[in-house]
Amino acid sequence: MKNTDIEKVILSAETIRSRILEIAEEINQHYQDRVREIILITLLDGAIVFTADLIRHLSVPLRLDCIRVSSYGDSTNPETAPRILGSLKSDVRERHVLLVDDILDTGNTMQKVVSEVSAKKPASLKTCVFLNKPERRQNNFQADWSGFNIPDEFVVGYGLDYAGRYRELPYLGTLMPSIYTQTL
Ligand code: PRP
Repeated sequence: MKNTDIEKVILSAETIRSRILEIAEEINQHYQDRVREIILITLLDGAIVFTADLIRHLSVPLRLDCIRVSSYGDSTNPETAPRILGSLKSDVRERHVLLVDDILDTGNTMQKVVSEVSAKKPASLKTCVFLNKPERRQNNFQADWSGFNIPDEFVVGYGLDYAGRYRELPYLGTLMPSIYTQTL
């Protein structure tokens, strides 16, 4: 049943499920017979749900690692540009790396992570995002695999939050306007 705070369901759980099967197949085909193993790095927290569903359809053996990137308010201000917090468990040098995130918005987070991981000299580096908001991009970053293009609309569910909430919803939706005016 739909959460009452949700105004409109944009992507149903079933739509998401079938697209994930397609992306997983594309990723499998890309790596099949080419690599022994990949290191899949998920960007916390938002990508947890997408990653959990995606990896269960990947046939390429993988090691899972996580990265946390600081949230930022105004991405045009270098003082608040995204920063990688902590370090990876894995040594990615000469390894095949796949970065997974929930949404490519301005592109600043992915650009930063790609640049930092590239500096560690992986054998290859690919990116996969659940959602892409092309209208919001502030650079020319493009993911190698992307689940859905969506318009510039605030969405929650399937890992994405508003003030820490709604990540657990199995679908993607927009919030009732009244939610934004409530005291949290
Ligand atoms: C969100 C999202 C992406 C990033 C995308 O992270 O998970 O990592 O923003 O935005 P960008 O393309 O404009 O850089 P957020 O900081 O909200 O943290 P979260 O993953 O914990 O929700």
